[in-house]
Amino acid sequence: MNIAFFDAKPYDVSSFEPYLNDDIKIHFFETKLDTDTASLSAGCEVVCVFVNDTVNKAVIDKLYENGVKLIALRCAGYNNVDIAYCFGKIHVVHVPAYSPYAVAEHTMAMLLTSIRRIHKAYNRTREFNFSLSGLTGFDLYGKTVGVIGTGRIGKVFIDICKGFGMKVLAYDKFPVENSDIKYVELDELLKKSDIISLHCPLTPDTKHIIDENAIAKMKKGVVLLNTSRGALIKADALLEGIKSRQVGAACLDVYEEESDIFFEDYSGHIVEDDTLARLITMPNVLVTSHQAFLTEEALNNIAETTINNINEFFENGASVNELCYRCGRVDSCKNHRTNKCF
Ligand code: NAI
Repeated sequence: MNIAFFDAKPYDVSSFEPYLNDDIKIHFFETKLDTDTASLSAGCEVVCVFVNDTVNKAVIDKLYENGVKLIALRCAGYNNVDIAYCFGKIHVVHVPAYSPYAVAEHTMAMLLTSIRRIHKAYNRTREFNFSLSGLTGFDLYGKTVGVIGTGRIGKVFIDICKGFGMKVLAYDKFPVENSDIKYVELDELLKKSDIISLHCPLTPDTKHIIDENAIAKMKKGVVLLNTSRGALIKADALLEGIKSRQVGAACLDVYEEESDIFFEDYSGHIVEDDTLARLITMPNVLVTSHQAFLTEEALNNIAETTINNINEFFENGASVNELCYRCGRVDSCKNHRTNKCF
């Protein structure tokens, strides 16, 4: 089996290399998948993609023409794949969970770094500046955190927050039944939370769920955390919120227009995106480059599940981690006869 592996980074190669053998050949391409690079899939039954690869109609047509049978996402989110257009042409599998702890812990790491000014202190002490001026933070204990999206990652983040003695409010379009999570309407969460953390997927419903209207409803000085998908937050509205002091701090592991920037080294280059450049200059904005997933445990789980998905699909004709616009998951597949979407 030949797998065209796009957007390959050294840590991807290390985690997938143990699975290479006579039956599985992986062609690692540093380039992202898009209309210009889709032709690299020639001769491959599988393409393996990540969060910023483009899998739109034109790309899907090219992959189909090249005989690709399976798109294996090595991530959970699939907003970059036109799942509906894949239907009837190419099957799609993903890695539904690889370490919710990695993302939830990174979210808390960003929050603590930001509000306790650890990034500032680190730079100061390296310069032998031991002054504490300007480093005053605030206790998390007793503060209210609003969690939007209470799936795998949201739930772990809630548990971490409870460990800090925080009060938790949650909003989810599909609340977890019989749980001890306190659900409220989105407006109430926006109004009452000192800290708001996003853990829902990017869908037409959630795009810009945090826009100027939502920000206006928040407590003055609110801390916003986004380790989910960039376009959940309207970046210009966030910048205005920061400038007006309505938003007290923002921790962003994802950014609306990240796809051409994140994961690459642009030091020494002029960054064209004025909103991102301005956000990064703010003393109360912390940006990491879609790093929340990046733990050894997560990378190993991603590689193992991706290879299992591929093997399972070619051996049994179906994978439990198949995605379909009609079902979402193969375990609820409407095609009961074959338990396979098409
Ligand atoms: P999940 O599918 O377990 O949970 C998502 C939750 O969001 C579900 O409870 C769902 O009901 C809820 N939801 C769906 N539509 C909603 C809406 N309109 N409003 C409010 N809630 C809604 O997903 P999981 O594993 O917890 O991941 C969450 C997100 O984290 C992913 O979609 C992905 O975008 C992001 N992620 C980011 C990573 C990073 O490295 N920064 C790594 C992995 C995931």
